[in-house]
Amino acid sequence: MADTYILGIESSCDETAAAVVRSGEKLVSNVVASQIAVHQPYGGVVPELASREHLRAIVPVVLKALSDAGHTYQSVDAIAVTQGPGLAGALLVGISYAKALSFALDKPLIAVNHLEGHIHAVLLEERQKGNHELTFPVLALVVSGGHTHLYLAKQKDEAWSYENVGRTRDDAAGEAFDKVAKLLALGYPGGPMIDRLSTHGDPKAVKFALSQIKHPDRNDRGKQSDQPRVDFSYSGIKTGVLRYVETHNMKESIDTRRKALAQIAKPKLEDYLANCDKQTLDLVASFQACIVEDLIAKTLTAARAYDVATLFVTGGVAANAELRQRFEKAGAAEGMPVFFPSRPLSTDNAAMIAAAAYPKFISRDFAALDFSAEAGMVLK
Ligand code: KG4
Ligand code: ZN
Repeated sequence: MADTYILGIESSCDETAAAVVRSGEKLVSNVVASQIAVHQPYGGVVPELASREHLRAIVPVVLKALSDAGHTYQSVDAIAVTQGPGLAGALLVGISYAKALSFALDKPLIAVNHLEGHIHAVLLEERQKGNHELTFPVLALVVSGGHTHLYLAKQKDEAWSYENVGRTRDDAAGEAFDKVAKLLALGYPGGPMIDRLSTHGDPKAVKFALSQIKHPDRNDRGKQSDQPRVDFSYSGIKTGVLRYVETHNMKESIDTRRKALAQIAKPKLEDYLANCDKQTLDLVASFQACIVEDLIAKTLTAARAYDVATLFVTGGVAANAELRQRFEKAGAAEGMPVFFPSRPLSTDNAAMIAAAAYPKFISRDFAALDFSAEAGMVLK
């Protein structure tokens, strides 16, 4: 089959992104316009501001992705766009633009689930390295600011399908990183800074106990499904950090740090380090270690239960250095290969959307022009 060039568009949260990917296996261009600076003062994503920023950025971002790829609107074969899950107003910007392009250029339009995109970021990069062999069953941990999900990923002919075997009951892991960073005045988004600060603290200094998830039908053998579920919960540890801060009278030092960092235009790691005492560094290192430990333990529980051959770990939190190292070690000990996207493709991007669209292009699974954003879209 001839090479297929798909233009991907992603606008589900706080990154406006566009990319061109060839036949699901070669990243040709990848442009991400981050809105971090816009949301930073609020310590989290403000949906209205996100939509407005997407409107501003979408045309230049798409044009840059095309020109970086040496392509034009006319020369791509299809347009792919994130349908959900995400912020409805933010998704609508990408979708409306993609629909207009598809209509005006008379090119097929492909609607992609954002979570499927995160999974295909791994596949895209493995194929790009020449690794076309994949041993099933594949278990994918999608761990980001909005999601902590475990999926069994299956492929029949070209089409992929997914079975959810675990999810968070409350906060996503990335959300816990972001909220703890906000509480400790460590910037936004919190994951990358906690990742870097943690190497300077003692991960064993503070003990956190994570909530154990009990399933409602756990004692009723008749009702128990054959399929075990492995769920996560991260709102408790966030409260644990808050209680630690209160009982150790850390509020004052946090306020001092907040004020000091506010004076610096773009604070760097050294600025954060200069404004963090040992107690704070130990606290973030312990918090991170607890989350990483839990993600790995539960993913391995599911991997054993489903006799999985290959693990994928993807989504923004998959950029975390300790998570990657520990997963690689754990995978090696289990004799199970673990694949991650590169750091730039771990967080939100449109290359993953264009890659996930390729199997749908082959099976002509095109979207009608009247499809709409699905904020709570489920991956199946
Ligand atoms: O996949 P993503 O870009 O957006 C969503 O789909 O949510 O993930 C963003 C999340 C944020 O919560 C951010 O703090 C977290 O990923 N994150 C990290 C790291 N880099 C990004 N968390 C831990 N360590 C990192 N290095
Ligand atoms: Zn994401």
